[in-house]
Amino acid sequence: MEFLEELKNFAKENNVPILREESGHILSDLIKKERPKRILEIGTAIGYSGILMLLASEECFLTSVEKNEKRVRKAKENFEKAGMQNRVKLIEGDAMEIVKSLENAGEKFDFVFLDGPKGQYEKYLPYLKKMLIKGGILFADDVYLHGWVKGDDIPPHKHRAMVMALRRFIKNISLDEELETQILDIEDGISISRKK
Ligand SMILES: C[S@@+](CC[C@H](N)C(=O)[O-])C[C@H]1O[C@@H](n2cnc3c(N)ncnc32)[C@H](O)[C@@H]1O
Repeated sequence: MEFLEELKNFAKENNVPILREESGHILSDLIKKERPKRILEIGTAIGYSGILMLLASEECFLTSVEKNEKRVRKAKENFEKAGMQNRVKLIEGDAMEIVKSLENAGEKFDFVFLDGPKGQYEKYLPYLKKMLIKGGILFADDVYLHGWVKGDDIPPHKHRAMVMALRRFIKNISLDEELETQILDIEDGISISRKK
């Protein structure tokens, strides 16, 4: 879609981090195959991955969370330009608070795309697991964080807390008996977990 190319260029020019090329193909192909009806996205940015997912499955409705006010405004504009505003609920705020309140309200999803603050993935996990229906998928991007997460090396101080948190997240999803997880060593690392 031409509009997605436009968004990619906007993201590059304005230093907005968005899903990388191959990871985008993997996400899109998985959505086409799974045909989820209700997707939760953590980290909307400007709506690039949201539009990619809505394009992949015409039946799905997206709930997407973003805390940066400027990006929320841009995402809203982009969903409208793509004619998808009726298929999206954009929630502005901190993902931890929102994830807790969605879970508390009994919301259920059949697909979660986790692409927000990497150091928080492990904290979201128990809530996301409760909201995922049986057979639902948790897709997390950047789990290897430019390769720092792999192995046991001590990461640079600046990234240490985030790397350690991601290592714990990977361990948790890999050992969790309710999840069936595969980690793909592609671009910045992707984890795909299916709830049994
Ligand atoms: C990698 S970007 C998302 C990219 C988007 N999924 C895409 O591929 O088009 C991560 C986003 O998470 C947002 N974010 C960071 N911390 C957050 C938080 N605590 N709650 C909600 N969003 C947050 C950032 O502002 C950023 O826009």
